[in-house]
Amino acid sequence: MIITIAHSKGGVGKSLLSWHLAIGMSVPIIDLDFQKTLVYTNNLRKINGYKSLKIIQPESPQSFVEFMDNWPEDKNIIIDVGGFDSNLNRAALYISDLIITPAVDRVTEMAGLYKFHQILEELSQKMKTHIKANILLNDVNPSAKDFSVIEDLVDNLKHFDLMDTIIAHRADFYRTMEEGKGVTELEKSKAKKEIKQLIKEIKKKG
Ligand SMILES: Nc1ncnc2c1ncn2[C@@H]1O[C@H](COP(=O)(O)OP(=O)(O)OP(=O)(O)O)[C@@H](O)[C@H]1O
Ligand SMILES: [Mg+2]
Repeated sequence: MIITIAHSKGGVGKSLLSWHLAIGMSVPIIDLDFQKTLVYTNNLRKINGYKSLKIIQPESPQSFVEFMDNWPEDKNIIIDVGGFDSNLNRAALYISDLIITPAVDRVTEMAGLYKFHQILEELSQKMKTHIKANILLNDVNPSAKDFSVIEDLVDNLKHFDLMDTIIAHRADFYRTMEEGKGVTELEKSKAKKEIKQLIKEIKKKG
């Protein structure tokens, strides 16, 4: 299964979630992000003596498509897409089996989601298919209970579904990355529980 973490908006947690998922699921990552956040984190992982992740960085859209064409269907892989619109990122959206779109439940974030939805609509029309993204609430206040802003938006947009899992704002997510670790490698942590829950939901969808 090709799992793509995508949003045309930057800074929503794509790389952070890709990292913790890849470690939790023991799968490779394709890094399409120019900032190479995860290559850097993987170097920290090596320095700290942990077994490094496999990170693939395609040199061109062609080499990306070729690599994906040969990817075995029964093997999982995670794609971390850059926070902008491009042909490469659209190709990733088209070839993936599951798109996960991290989103923050704030009114100010809604314009970005509309824009991403528009991209999915254009791509669906062009490729004569119906592409769906699974909206994942991320970086939410741990005590928040009301997600009606995002629930209403997802209800009204045909290329979006809302995931059951909710990922809160937690220091464990970035502190572990600072030493190249994943939250699933912690002994006990709420962040670990959330990622485990997310992996369960991904497997159910696959
Ligand atoms: N659940 C979370 N808890 C705590 N911090 C978070 C969480 N999600 C994201 N962050 C923080 O938000 C910032 C942006 O995250 P990240 O770099 O993963 O976003 P991105 O979508 O990959 O951005 P870009 O599009 O620029 O690649 C980082 O500092 C990250 O540590
Ligand atoms: Mg990123």
